[in-house]
Order: sequence, then C-alpha cells, then structure tokens
Amino acid sequence: MLKKSFFLFGTTAMLVSCAGGGAEQLASPDGNVQLSFELSKDGTPTYSVKFDDEEIIKPSTLGFILKDAAPMTSGFKVEKITRESGDETWAPVWGENDSIRDHYNGMTVQLTQQAGDTLRKLDIQFRVYDDGAAFRYIFPDQETKTFVIADELSQMAMGGDYTAWWIPGDYDTQEYEYTKSKLSEISSYAEKGKIENVSQTGFSPTGVQTSLMLKTPSGKYVNLHEAALVDYPAMHLNLDESNLTFTSWLTPSPDGTKATIDVPFKTPWRVVMLGEKATDILATNIIYNLNEPNALEDTSWIHPTKYMGVWWEMITGKSQWSYTDAENFDLATFDYSKAKPHGKHGANTANVKRYIDFAADNGFDELLIEGWNVGWEDWFGKEKDYVFDFVTPYPDFDIKELNDYAHKKGIKLMMHHETSGSIPNYEKHMDKAYDLMNQYGYDAVKSGYVGSILPKGENHYSQSSVRHYLNAIKKAADKKIMVNAHEAVRPTGLARTYPNLVGNESAMGTEYRNMSAAHETILPFTRLKGGPMDFTPGIFRMDIGSFVPGSNEHKKATVANQLGLYMTMYSPLQMAADLPEHYAEKMDAFQFIKDVPVDWSETRYIDAEPGEFIIVARKDKKSPNWFAGGITNEQARDTELKLDFLQPGKKYMATIYADAPDADYLKNPEAYVITKKEVTSADTLPIHMAQGGGFAISFFEE
Ligand code: NOJ
Ligand code: CA
Repeated sequence: MLKKSFFLFGTTAMLVSCAGGGAEQLASPDGNVQLSFELSKDGTPTYSVKFDDEEIIKPSTLGFILKDAAPMTSGFKVEKITRESGDETWAPVWGENDSIRDHYNGMTVQLTQQAGDTLRKLDIQFRVYDDGAAFRYIFPDQETKTFVIADELSQMAMGGDYTAWWIPGDYDTQEYEYTKSKLSEISSYAEKGKIENVSQTGFSPTGVQTSLMLKTPSGKYVNLHEAALVDYPAMHLNLDESNLTFTSWLTPSPDGTKATIDVPFKTPWRVVMLGEKATDILATNIIYNLNEPNALEDTSWIHPTKYMGVWWEMITGKSQWSYTDAENFDLATFDYSKAKPHGKHGANTANVKRYIDFAADNGFDELLIEGWNVGWEDWFGKEKDYVFDFVTPYPDFDIKELNDYAHKKGIKLMMHHETSGSIPNYEKHMDKAYDLMNQYGYDAVKSGYVGSILPKGENHYSQSSVRHYLNAIKKAADKKIMVNAHEAVRPTGLARTYPNLVGNESAMGTEYRNMSAAHETILPFTRLKGGPMDFTPGIFRMDIGSFVPGSNEHKKATVANQLGLYMTMYSPLQMAADLPEHYAEKMDAFQFIKDVPVDWSETRYIDAEPGEFIIVARKDKKSPNWFAGGITNEQARDTELKLDFLQPGKKYMATIYADAPDADYLKNPEAYVITKKEVTSADTLPIHMAQGGGFAISFFEE
C-alpha cells in the first residue's frame, strides 16, 4: 500500500499555527490516519477521523454541559494551535512485549469562550497514531476554579452501520455476554428483552460500554475506548440510532451530576483504535501509550505471578467461604468461638496446606485463599457498612503457620479483600489490612467490590469510586503490594503508570461457567485493551456435578481450549483455577500450565476474528523458548501454523497440546492428545481445534 506524504515535525518541536479559518489537519506518522478539526460557524468544536481515506468518524462535536452555568458547547474561539510529535520506545515492567513504541503526531487547540463576564479556557489535545486517534480535554488554570460537569458531550459519529460486539450500558458491572449486531439493531435487543438485566441502573437502551469493538462494511476494524481514567467517572457511549452517532455518557454521582473538577484538569483520553486486520486491534498499544509513564521508583518487587487458589471449590459449591451458618449479626460483637461451625469451610489450615504442597511442588509463585477472614456469613446483598475488618482470621485458619509453611516451600500466599462494595469501610481498614499483609509476607491482594457501592447512591464507575480504586492501588504500591481488583472499574491502561496493578476482572470470567464459546474470542478485543484480566482459566474437569453433589453445571470448553487461554488472554497474573486433584488426573496436560510463561519479550498475533478465533505466538522474556496457542468459538477449525516466528537455524522440541479428533466442548470436552516433534522455523504444523476448543504448543530450543 502506498503511504501518503506527511509533515514531519521534530520530536520536541512545537509549531504554532495561526488561529481562525478553515480546518486543521493532523495526520499519523504514516499518513494513513487523518484527523480534521474545525470550529463550526457558531464556534462549536468539531472533529472527524479518516482511515485509508474512509471516513470512520464523521464530523462530531465536542463540549460540556455544566451545572448552573452556561454550556461549554459553542461560542468558542481558537486562540492558538500548537503541534508536536513524539517517537519514543519504552520498556514495560511486564507485558506482551519487552519494548513498546509510542509514535504520534499531536495538536493542541487552545479555545476560549466568553460566558457573561467570565472568560473560560478549554484546550483540546489530539494525537494521531498509525493505528488510531485520540483526544482529551484540558481545563487550564483560569478564573473559574471548579467546574461541575452535568454532562460531557463528546460525539463519535460513526461512518456507517458498523457491526458491533457490545455489552449494554450499566453503571455497576461489565459482567455481560457480548452481543454481535449492527449498530442500528442495538436498541431492539433491549426492547425485545433479549438481553437480561439491560439498564440495571436505568441507563439508556442504546447505551453500550467501552471498549467497543466494531467492523466497517469495508472490513476495517475500529475500537472505541478511553485511556487514563483518573479522578473522573467512567464513560459509556449512547447511540442516536437516527444518525448512528455516539455521545459520551458519564457515570453519575449521587446528586446526578457527572463530575466535579478543579483546574488545572485533564480528562481521560477518548480513543479510536484502527486496523486493517483484526490482529492490528489486538496488537495496538495506543491505550498504554496514552497513559503516563511508570510512576513507581522501585519496581523490583513487582513480579509476574502464576498462582493457584482455594477458590474454585467455593465458586462451584464444593466448600464455602463462611465458617458458620450464623446470619444478621454485628461483626464487632459476634463471638465466633460460641458459634457452631457448619463444617464446609474451605480455608481451613489442613486444606490450605494441601494446596500449598501441590502449588509449591509444581512451581507456582502464589496461592490465593478466599474466606480466610471473619464476616463471610453476613455479607452478600446485605449492604452493611461494617462487613469485614480484613485482619481477623477465622478460628480454623492459622495465618502465621500457613504463611511460614508456604514461605518454607518457596511460595507466597495471596491475600483476599472482599469489600462487599462498602468503600468507606475498606478505606477505614485499608492501612491496617495492608500492614497485616506486610507483617506476614503477602505481596499481592485480590480485592473485590461485589454488591451495591456504599455510600448509597454511588455507582461502581462513578467519579468517587474511580478515585478509590486508584487510591487503593497507590497505597498498595507504598507498601509493595500488587493489586488484582475484581468488580472495580474496567481498566484504561493505568497499569503502565502503576505496574503493581497486575490484574482486574471487570468482565465475565471463568466463574460464569456457561458462557458461549465465543466470549473468550471477544475479550482480547474489548476488555483486555485496557489491561490484563484475571480470567482464571485452566479448568480440567468440566462436569462440575462429578465433584459437587447436586450440581448440574458443565464448563463449556475443552481441555485444549483451557490451555489455549493462557496464550490468548494475556496477563502477568495467571491462575490455574481447578482443584489439585483434577490436575493430578491429567498431569501430562498440566505440564503446559507449568511451562507457560506469564511475561513475554515478543508477541505475534497470527490470525483472529472477534467472536470466532484467536491464534497467537509469544516468546518467553527469560529464555529463547516460544509458545503458541489459540481458541475457537463453537465452530471447529483446521489451519496450518507457520513456524516462521521461530529463530532461523535453531531446532526446537515442540510439545503440541491439541483437541482429540472426537473432542467437543459439549459432548466430549476432556479428550486431548499430546504429541512431540522436533521443528524449525521452516516448518508448518497442522492445527485442529474442536467445537469450543483450542490448542497450545511449547517450543523449547534444543
Ligand atoms: C466475585 C469475584 O469475582 C470472585 O472471584 C470472588 O470469589 C467472589 N466475588 C467473592 O469475593
Ligand atoms: Ca466477579
């Protein structure tokens, strides 16, 4: 393809254009992405984006509605336009690649607006990359010191009736399955009740969450998300079906306003990722590039982590988080020594030791234990303020002995803090909770925000909740603690700045055992664009009833699919979620989970289509070894995997973990075959993926 010419700006040079008149153009370094900015006649800021000459975002307006003040939507004047460009390469603390190039052309439009006697200032900063475009608002220091934002009105007018993979708007959860439909069909799903729980919190039936994956009729891939969500509510997108235009829809605060900001202030970036191929969207690093560099001086204590957990046995109902059957009590006065244990408490010292033995024997770094602390009898759906103290173990959980035992065996325990949505209670106890972790040698916490957020009226994604999640991450960093937050706001690349944020959930993970097989082929295009997910793969026993009496649950996946997920769902924090006894039955397949790294020097997305399949190869950061893997939806697939990613001239021993010819995610999910073969970069391997299946391959250099 011919690259268009473009103006080359020095990496540090700032060019100042004259204000007024005509559209200002901003092209990506390769010229293929072109952004145009213009003030309409009435002074409304307007932009559009083209990719390969196709209008992806049609002229769209920008601005704000303020509480009790004139809107910041029109009547603007351009004071000055400054241009810049950047080209630098940075090394993430952990990641899919050991270096990331941040290469863009930028333009900041400085606007003023006369509101009565007050002159308001608003800058709009644009950046254009070879694989996308972004903008954010900057409120410079000015006469008005505080702005109360009733609504942000950032439009993204779609260039056509794109295909979308979407989840409905919701201020509290992203735990939905994706729907694939045309943009023009989104509202019909809500109306026909095809989607359960749409608009749990009263959100518009045409509202969707980001990251939103789209495909144009011409076959281009587009993705809308935000980057660097700090001190501001999370953004949804609300569609006007009459003109296929999205407008930002921020999560409200209890008083109905969206955000209160003190100048100077920068909003998160609004981002459009662009690709010729689906794999371009998987590979783009725009979201991380738009976040600030690492803010932590010492990162030596942050380590990629493979872990097991006393967890799946609770999720499946084999054991319980709680210790007794008591209910409706005050944690401050409840006397556990007088309560009768129900006998199904999973986090008891003997059971935890059994897990420590297995995890340590098989080279894991950590073991998560849920239900170790008092309060689990009386938390779910209770909306209690004081629900956990995060420091008092149950009588049958010997915190000192278990940590000592684990450390002697070379692994760490992972802490668990379920806040039950009571953010005020967690903030009150957080210092002591982290201190307890330091005291016993825990260096990672899985936190959770199940239930309605307190104080009442707050939402999971509102400005004050967003502040809390980052506050918890920063405080944890001060105490050298890594964070894996469940049910917190979906990530927006902040792990670049705070690399101790090693994981989030913020989507349906393995605990929803009945997802369609397409779900995991969509997540890397959507949820994972903001950062890694604690997806908790590695289920080897699909028939839950085979070990939980009375359960008729079946995990809809093959064993090879579960192995493939360690490759397709990148995360520096990966769990082997099933029970030790289930791995012990299939130690040959478990070998892949033992071998697979969680930190990479290089990643090559080989082929993919959202909702259908993903195939990827990655090189270990610490060795010359390569790994490959893939997953498919409910459709079986056969393909040829070219091994040209391997280093030429070297020989590798490939171990191929594949679906058996008769494997099927519903009827025969545990059938797999493992073969070994010596290969070089000149070879090609035939790959078969069963319905709901996948594959995984390790390539050890010889
Ligand atoms: C929901 C989390 O996603 C799950 O992993 C956890 O076990 C429960 N909450 C209890 O905290
Ligand atoms: Ca969850």
